[in-house]
Amino acid sequence: MPTTKRSEQDACSLLDTDHRKVKKMFKDYEALAHSKAAGAPEKKRELANQICMELTVHAQIEEEIFYPGLREAIKETDLLDEAAVEHASAKELIAQIQAAAEPDEMFDAKVTVLGEYIDHHVKEERNEIFVKARAAHGLDLMAMREQLEARKEELMSELMGETA
Ligand SMILES: [Fe+2]
Ligand SMILES: [Fe+2]
Repeated sequence: MPTTKRSEQDACSLLDTDHRKVKKMFKDYEALAHSKAAGAPEKKRELANQICMELTVHAQIEEEIFYPGLREAIKETDLLDEAAVEHASAKELIAQIQAAAEPDEMFDAKVTVLGEYIDHHVKEERNEIFVKARAAHGLDLMAMREQLEARKEELMSELMGETA
């Protein structure tokens, strides 16, 4: 009988799916940034907006559900403090990108640096925070996955409504 490991469906795996999705979007952006094709600037603007939206929702569900749950379940919370600081700097950059009028060279630089921040942050989540979460006692990561999923859907439709 084929079995799915529990870890493949837990809260961490849901979050890591977002990480991979956004990583691909940053790669696509990089290709567009080097493209001379007509329409590239418009595509870059749109993709940058999508990246910002994905990251905003992702950060919010982590901050509302995942990090607080983890904070109660583990003793050493330095990592979570660092994660909060990393989220704050990413949000500043996201705000600058969203506020920019034209995708000029500085715009590309901002998206690139945001991608680097996120890479670094994702590594810490994957290699340290998720490991601690999965080892923590009394943390129901399967139930948390459902909470994260539901909240994500809610936030996404709110944001889509705003931009429509
Ligand atoms: Fe995070
Ligand atoms: Fe994350």
